Amino acid sequence: MKPGFLNREHTRTSHVQIDTRKCKACWKCLDNCPNQVITKVDLPWHKHALIAEPGKCTGCLKCIEVCEYGAYSIADKTKQEAAKQRDKTFYSFITNNLLLLFGLIMIVSGLVLQLGFHVGSPGEQHESRSGIQSQTVYYEQARGLDTPDTIGGINYSNWSTLHKFAIVFFSLFMIYHLYIHWKWYKGVISKRLINKNIQVMTLSILFLLVALTGLIPWFIDLSGSVSVLRLIFIEIHDKLALVLVIYLILHVLKRSKWFVTACSKLKR
Ligand code: HEM
Ligand code: HEM
Ligand code: SF4
Ligand code: SF4
Repeated sequence: MKPGFLNREHTRTSHVQIDTRKCKACWKCLDNCPNQVITKVDLPWHKHALIAEPGKCTGCLKCIEVCEYGAYSIADKTKQEAAKQRDKTFYSFITNNLLLLFGLIMIVSGLVLQLGFHVGSPGEQHESRSGIQSQTVYYEQARGLDTPDTIGGINYSNWSTLHKFAIVFFSLFMIYHLYIHWKWYKGVISKRLINKNIQVMTLSILFLLVALTGLIPWFIDLSGSVSVLRLIFIEIHDKLALVLVIYLILHVLKRSKWFVTACSKLKR
């Protein structure tokens, strides 16, 4: 044997490592490795398996499976990568579930505001007579805590607060969701795969528009002004949001299997 032959390179690939002291020279790993990665040291007084071609290893883990003496184990680097992957799945699982929770509160509160208060409200009836300015005044009045109308025992102002509360958290988790899928967007755009992924791309643009048309009137409100512009934004916001709801439901339903797979991966 050449001096230095049995160095670290010959006891590991990027996927597996061998502890030659445990090897009983049965040669099962050699026979089962599909890529001829393993070789023999076969001297009368010294026999064991050895990694000959680490670069050819594909990580099929057959060697670990067939060795009855536990000479092979997963390489430390692979273990680290597996741990990293597990962490990633864990964080995605948590954020996706929180997205679901706050998304649900956001949709329910948004729909109550839109279908329960806006549609057919006295403000809507005013519109035909005295125009958008009167509706603005109605909205501003309805947002007061003294409004008599309630849905599910909650008045307009509190539904509106609930909607905003859900949106703050939803937006935070959305930032993480978009951050981890940033590469996906880059890939889709650079490989011109937009048509193939039209549903997620439409969802993304819709989300951006709904977020902008919701946040701008909120900032106008926070600045303390009562303006028609605010109402126009909300009117666009709540119509676009109805389409967004459909896309969101489709997005989540299509990925429902992901939740089951992630859950069983984490249990393992
Ligand atoms: C209720 C809210 C949402 C939930 C629960 C949700 C859940 C999921 C799940 C489970 C996946 C696949 C697993 C993963 O890689 O994380 C995914 C992928 C993705 N989501 Fe969402 N998502 C939501 C909203 C959104 C929104 C609003 C956008 C766009 C602005 C978006 C963009 C994406 C993208 C780009 C992917 C990767 C591509 C793909 O899987 O097709 N998601 N989402
Ligand atoms: C997806 C379903 C959604 C529906 C059905 C919906 C519906 C509505 C409705 C009807 C209002 C008017 C409330 C009011 O007059 O006080 C509103 C307000 C608002 N929405 Fe949404 N929305 C949805 C999603 C979103 C999203 C994704 C965002 C931002 C990320 C958002 C941000 C806001 C904000 C900030 C306001 C407050 C505007 C203000 O009163 O100054 N909404 N939404
Ligand atoms: S299967 Fe295990 S004991 Fe047999 S040669 Fe390979 S490493 Fe040695
Ligand atoms: S993991 Fe597969 S390819 Fe790599 S050495 Fe073991 S049996 Fe061969």
